[in-house]
Amino acid sequence: MAKTIQAVRGMNDILPAETAAWQHLEEALRSVVHTYGYHEIRMPLLEKTELFRRSIGEVTDIVEKEMYTFDDRNGDSLTLRPEGTASCVRACMEHGLLHNQVQRLWYAGPMFRHERPQKGRYRQFHQVGVEAFGMAGPDIDAEMIFMTARIWERLGLTGAVLQLNSLGTLQARAAYRDALVDYLLTHADALDADSRRRLDSNPLRILDSKNPDMQALLAAAPSLTEYLDTESREHFVALCALLDAAGVRYELNPRLVRGLDYYSKTVFEWVTDQLGAQGTICAGGRYDGLVEYLGGRPVPAVGFAVGLERLLGLLAAGGIELPENVPHVYLVLDGEQGSRRGMVFAEELRAALPGLRLQANCGGGSFKSQFKRADRSGASFALVIGDDEAVQQQVVFKPLRSAAAQETVLQQEIAGILGERLRLAVVT
Ligand code: HAM
Repeated sequence: MAKTIQAVRGMNDILPAETAAWQHLEEALRSVVHTYGYHEIRMPLLEKTELFRRSIGEVTDIVEKEMYTFDDRNGDSLTLRPEGTASCVRACMEHGLLHNQVQRLWYAGPMFRHERPQKGRYRQFHQVGVEAFGMAGPDIDAEMIFMTARIWERLGLTGAVLQLNSLGTLQARAAYRDALVDYLLTHADALDADSRRRLDSNPLRILDSKNPDMQALLAAAPSLTEYLDTESREHFVALCALLDAAGVRYELNPRLVRGLDYYSKTVFEWVTDQLGAQGTICAGGRYDGLVEYLGGRPVPAVGFAVGLERLLGLLAAGGIELPENVPHVYLVLDGEQGSRRGMVFAEELRAALPGLRLQANCGGGSFKSQFKRADRSGASFALVIGDDEAVQQQVVFKPLRSAAAQETVLQQEIAGILGERLRLAVVT
């Protein structure tokens, strides 16, 4: 027998038993960002490779080794999006959404990175991203962070810690980069292979190293904070004051540098210690230079993205119960007339009780097997219509999750009974 084909490594099916939790999460995120006045934008999954090379940066891990890039049939180099910010900026520029106006936007969907899969790190994963354009002050940075805090609150999540830093302007960062390289070169013997490789290409990322042997060296390195220009410093102080005033707690982390090159000034990550190595559930920051870098007029911008797989992992780790999409009612059908009447009756009930989740038994089966299916479906109640009930315009109502006795009632009464039990409004 031929070997069955399996999914691509690191790309997961989201199975029926899991989708209700995903929908719950997506709905919570959507409703929070809508309350802040953000509008959804949908971009293609594929973009020209050049967009990501230029936005994310040539010497980042993503561009150097993680992109799914291929030539299409015309010979154009295309890439499955590894993140949403670059596509969002491209779309806004292309459609003139950034001229003399502010934009508050969000998007959701799969992203693709050829990373080494492990718990919380996948090759196809899902983000909800939020981007705001045209606002230069720290108020919008604060709004981004308030919004993330509100999302955690809405989901009942506690224990995520906000880490905050400012990368300053490009010039400030260049000056810091020189100082850091000088320092690291004087300690070149203590650098691991990865850091030595990054010394030329992307020395700030060395600060991110998790290697325990490097921690003392990095702790003594010059701090980016000392190199901040006045404007960035004032921006950062004002942001911290807004967070303090709103009671949002944060940790200053001068070694937080992010893995994408487009950031300037504010950067932040929400991290948790409950997910093992992949503990960042949300990350973002300001990227005031990106629009201009991609050929537009300068537009200040700030945003973040939440990783949905990690968020779900955190909800599960916290024992937070997520909804399952189980039917309220399972309709058991018997006999020719009963089956015919039952299918029509199911439609009448669905019309009378919007929001009712009713699963009708299709494909026949004995009473016993139908009740087994009813039980397995998770439904709270069974309704039974056989030939007798069809003729008498009755239905048997049987609670499945309590010892209460079954009763036979008129079909026209059942919408009222179910409406009361399930707290659903009856449409008359
Ligand atoms: P990022 O830090 O690359 O930023 O990704 C944001 C979040 O996506 C991470 O914190 C994590 O939760 C999730 N994530 C990233 N890679 C994976 C993976 N391989 N598997 C599972 N989850 C993952 C960005 O993507 C920026 N575009 C965020 C942003 C928006 N900055 C400004 N605006």
